[in-house]
Amino acid sequence: MELKEIQKEILSWKPSFNEEVTTIWRSPSNIALLKYWGKRDGQLPVNPSLSFSLSKAHTTTKLTAFPNSNNRGIKAVNDNPEHPFLNKIKPFWQTVIKEIPVLTNYSIDIHTQNTFPHSAGIASSASGFSALTLTLIDVAQFISGNQLPKEDFLRYASSLSRMGSGSACRSIYGGFTVWGATDLWSQSSDYYAIDINQNIHPSFNNLHDAILLVSAKEKSLSSTKGHALMKEHPYANGRLLQANNNLSLAKKALAEGDWELLSDVSENEALSLHALIISSQGGDVLLEPASLELIQRIRNARYKGLPIFFTIDAGPNIHLIYPESAKANVEAFIFNELNDICPVDKVIYDHCGTGPQKIHELKNSNL
Ligand code: PMV
Repeated sequence: MELKEIQKEILSWKPSFNEEVTTIWRSPSNIALLKYWGKRDGQLPVNPSLSFSLSKAHTTTKLTAFPNSNNRGIKAVNDNPEHPFLNKIKPFWQTVIKEIPVLTNYSIDIHTQNTFPHSAGIASSASGFSALTLTLIDVAQFISGNQLPKEDFLRYASSLSRMGSGSACRSIYGGFTVWGATDLWSQSSDYYAIDINQNIHPSFNNLHDAILLVSAKEKSLSSTKGHALMKEHPYANGRLLQANNNLSLAKKALAEGDWELLSDVSENEALSLHALIISSQGGDVLLEPASLELIQRIRNARYKGLPIFFTIDAGPNIHLIYPESAKANVEAFIFNELNDICPVDKVIYDHCGTGPQKIHELKNSNL
């Protein structure tokens, strides 16, 4: 169904069950190779982006909805009414009850856990909001006795999670996704991400991401502020042209298995993101000296023939990307040649994952 039709159907849902309901979902973070930077009203992206979902870096969220409560909405996270995630959840909840009114009279209890440290610079808002959204829609289906077809469920989850955090909409699918309207994919939309795995060459199956932790310091620029700075950015028009051109090159590289081309485009995107941040009003420099040293060493190894490239989000940590076929060589390179900057405990090894999962039984967890 079209998104508008799904939204219309959900608006008509009525409560048919009056007991407490619990559900648990696990959803991954994702790493963008083509960066979303700059948004329009309605949490819509200025340019299309492309990412792959991670596997080990994920959030597990357990949500319980209590009916007819005098204490409506989400008042605490992990029993903490001061939890930092609540600042972002409160405005999101207003969107949720507008779009899923069947949840309005419920008190919502959330317990959530990330597998990765906050300081890892991994987008916890992407995994956090996608997991939260999936639990909310799932509970709403249960309460109303409705069940969306899988494709519609995922499309709607992508669109709603976007309202919590833009990049969250890409975490709803496993493997590679594109978010943002582009002529390159006829199904693409500014409102939700799409699964593009049917266009990917097998040599890119199970891509790896070793996250090289450079700094545990809180990053100095929130993505909300960074996106806002793009509105008046002197290079905004150039960035739009560049992003669309890079996306077309990335599509070709991914379809043909062209590692060199994907490496060039991805590194260009990462450096351009930081160039835009540096040349924004206020000019934040998020890269640390160690980030630059890692970039040089990765490039030297790459130019000598090791199939690796880097990407970077709005922080100092470096994501080192490599194919499954080079796993042993790249991990030896990290151990032998990056160890003085990133010893073993400063590297998180992750890889491309299969997307969110409903959890039926929790083991060894205090959620
Ligand atoms: O989803 P947000 O608002 O946290 O923005 C994410 C921005 C980048 O991580 C820098 C790029 C991206 O596309 O993920």
